[in-house]
Amino acid sequence: MKTVKLGQQGLEVSAMGLGCMGMSDFYGHKRPEDVDATLLAAVEQGITFWDSAEMYGPFTNEQLLGDRIKALGIERNKLTLATKFGVTRETDGTWLGFNSTPAQIRQSCEGSLRRLQTETIDLYYQHRVDPNVPIEEVVGTLADLVTEGKIRHIGLSEASEDIIRRAHKVHPITALQGEYSLWTRDLGAGVLPALQELGIGLVTYSPLGRGFLTGAIKSRNDLAADDWRLTNPRFSEDNFAKNLEFVAEIEAMASRKACTPAQIALAWITHQGFIPIPGTRNPNRLVENAGALTVELTAEELNWLSNELSTDDIHGERYA
Ligand SMILES: NC(=O)c1ccc[n+]([C@@H]2O[C@H](COP(=O)([O-])OP(=O)(O)OC[C@H]3O[C@@H](n4cnc5c(N)ncnc54)[C@H](OP(=O)(O)O)[C@@H]3O)[C@@H](O)[C@H]2O)c1
Repeated sequence: MKTVKLGQQGLEVSAMGLGCMGMSDFYGHKRPEDVDATLLAAVEQGITFWDSAEMYGPFTNEQLLGDRIKALGIERNKLTLATKFGVTRETDGTWLGFNSTPAQIRQSCEGSLRRLQTETIDLYYQHRVDPNVPIEEVVGTLADLVTEGKIRHIGLSEASEDIIRRAHKVHPITALQGEYSLWTRDLGAGVLPALQELGIGLVTYSPLGRGFLTGAIKSRNDLAADDWRLTNPRFSEDNFAKNLEFVAEIEAMASRKACTPAQIALAWITHQGFIPIPGTRNPNRLVENAGALTVELTAEELNWLSNELSTDDIHGERYA
């Protein structure tokens, strides 16, 4: 597995990560029996940059990772564990809102360390910007956690250019996590140039369009009744079929290139130097996704994907 530098603070991660959210939350069909096989396949493929969050579950995703890493005998120092704070939920899932007060950050960090059964978190992201706490105060607290050895690197998620610049002045920011895929390309005005200028890495979440871009979801009936995607505008009754036309274009390209639509979607991201963290609970899909790193896209193909395959053809917002 190719490794790449993330940010300028010495963090080196696998060129593709593993999104672990769906193992515990949001996408229906939790299949604990597949989790072990998926995690072991990830280690075997060298996909060692794993993504979680306190709010996935809530809490249970970190606990699951901590437990399974130990039970499977996976060496902790082979992994880069990333997790997030700042979106708070009750244990039963009830939303409590965004909260990045210093006290909450410290409490969240202690909880994540305990659940992940680790002494330090490799990359700790603020999950969502808290409008009530200045980013300077948030990053100041995180900088203290770095000094104390509880976290190694600082990340932001879904932050604007202004927030990124202000945060980076307090302590170097290693990575931004943002939704970025063939059907979601807008990270916000000025964000990409700011990342480039400041040497901050981009970790792209939902790189498979929450599974839609793979072509594996052909109808709303393919999703379990409790699947969060049924409430997502792009998966609505009105928009689902229209968006399948966009996927058909990716499927056609994949068939011409003898690869899969998921691999096209991921290769388009890695060719831009970004790190996708596709989520899966399926070891075969994990291997397929890792295969995207060997898919070559020509300049012409990249241009077609970036400029001809237009997101104007996407129906529905990315969140309700
Ligand atoms: N920062 C944030 O706010 C934020 C928000 C959302 C997600 N994230 C992170 O980003 C990670 C990835 O995003 P995501 O899980 O939302 O979406 P995604 O990676 O775009 O898609 C995941 C979905 O695709 C399916 N899938 C994966 N590989 C496939 C393949 N080769 N063929 C067919 N289907 C495939 C998975 O199903 P199976 O599991 O059944 O294989 C799952 O339903 C999450 O796990 C989470 O860690 C962060």
